[in-house]
Amino acid sequence: METPFVFGKIATDKNFTDREQETAHVISNFESLINTIIISPRRWGKSSLVHKAATTACDLNKDMRICALDLFNVRNEEHFYSLLAQTVIRAASSRWEEIVENTMKFFSQIVPKLVFGNDPINDVSLDFDWEQVKRNPDEILDLAENIAKAKGLKIVVCIDEFQNIAEFDEPDYFQKRLRSHWQRHQHVAYCLYGSKRHMMLKVFTDSSKPFYKFGDLIFLNKIETPYMVGFIRERFAATGKQVDDDTCRYIVELSENHPYYVQQLAQLSWLRTEHVCSREIVGEAHSSLVEQLSLLFVTITETLTTQQLNYLRALVAGERSITSTEVMYRYRISSPTAAIRSRQALVEKDILDYKAGEISFQDPIYAYWLKYYYFAK
Ligand SMILES: Nc1ncnc2c1ncn2[C@@H]1O[C@H](COP(=O)(O)OP(=O)(O)OP(=O)(O)O)[C@@H](O)[C@H]1O
Ligand SMILES: [Mg+2]
Repeated sequence: METPFVFGKIATDKNFTDREQETAHVISNFESLINTIIISPRRWGKSSLVHKAATTACDLNKDMRICALDLFNVRNEEHFYSLLAQTVIRAASSRWEEIVENTMKFFSQIVPKLVFGNDPINDVSLDFDWEQVKRNPDEILDLAENIAKAKGLKIVVCIDEFQNIAEFDEPDYFQKRLRSHWQRHQHVAYCLYGSKRHMMLKVFTDSSKPFYKFGDLIFLNKIETPYMVGFIRERFAATGKQVDDDTCRYIVELSENHPYYVQQLAQLSWLRTEHVCSREIVGEAHSSLVEQLSLLFVTITETLTTQQLNYLRALVAGERSITSTEVMYRYRISSPTAAIRSRQALVEKDILDYKAGEISFQDPIYAYWLKYYYFAK
C-alpha cells in the first residue's frame, strides 16, 4: 500500500496543507509582478509553497509562465547563465519548434547551439560558448523580460537555493549586475528562496548588499496545530486507519510543528499502526526517529567547539540569560564575548535561529537528542 505521508519531497495536492494565506499572498505578488523573497529555517515548506502558488497562479492566469530554476548544484556564473537562459526559453515555448524560433529571435550577440537528445520534442537543450556569454551576459539577464514583452506574457522566475550566488567569484559584483537588470523589468517578477537561512538573510537584509530591499520579504511561519491535526487525521482515515485528535496533537507537539518532521513522525506512527494509532505508538515512533538520526547528529556535534557545546548545553537546559555570571560559571562559558561568538557560529551553521532576540533550534529533534541522549550521558 502507498504510504500516506511525504517528506523530503515537495508537498503537493493532498500532501499540502494550510498555507492558505501565504499561498494567496504569493499568488497576488505573482499577478502584480512583485518580486518576492521567502525565508525560513530548513524544511518548513518554502519550495512546496512556491510550487503550489506557481501552479495555481498559472491555472488562474493564462498569460502567466513560470520559469523555475534550482541552483542546488550551481557553483559559478557560467552555469547560472546557461541554466537561466535554458529555463526561460523552455518556459516560453510549448513545442520544440518554438524553442528553436525563440532562440533565433531573442539572441543576437550570443549564438547558442541547439542540442537534440533522443526525444527531440522534450529533449532539446542549449549550449553556450562561455566566452560569448562573458562578453554579453546582459542578453541572458534580460531574456525573460524581452520574451514576456514581445509575447504579451507575465513571466515569474522562481529561483530555489538562491543563496548559492553568494559563493560565486566576485559575488557582490555579480549581484549588482543581476539587480541592476532585474529591477528594471516590467513584465517579469522574481521569486527567490533557499534553504540556508542565515545566508539568505545576508543577501537580502544587509543594507550594504545589492539585493537589499529587492522585494517583498516573507518570513514563513510554521503550520499551525489545528491544520496539522486535521491533516494527519485525514491521511490516516484515507488509508483505513484511525487516530484521535489528541494523538495527532502529540505528533505535532513532539515535532514542534516542523512540517517535515510532522510528516515523518506521522509516517513512522502510521507504519506501526494496525488499526488505531495511540500515544504509545507515537512515543515508540519518536524514539526510533531519534535513533535513526543519531548518527547524523553525532557528525554535526563533532564539528562543534567545546565553547559552542557548553552554550548549547545551557540552552537545552532552558537557560534564558546565558551571559549572566551564574549561568556562565555553571556551564563553563568563558566570557560574555565567547557566548556571543558561539551563538553567531551556531547561527551560521544553521543549528540555531536568532530572531528578534529569541534563540531557538532549527531542528527540534536535534535539540531533543542533545538534551536526552548527548548531554544526559
Ligand atoms: N504545506 C505543507 N503541508 C504539509 N507538509 C508540508 C507542507 N510544506 C512542507 N511540508 C513538509 O515539509 C517537507 C519539506 O518541504 P519543502 O521541501 O517545501 O521545504 P523547504 O523549506 O523548501 O526545505 P529546504 O529548506 O530544505 O529547502 C515536505 O517534504 C513535507 O513533508
Ligand atoms: Mg527547498
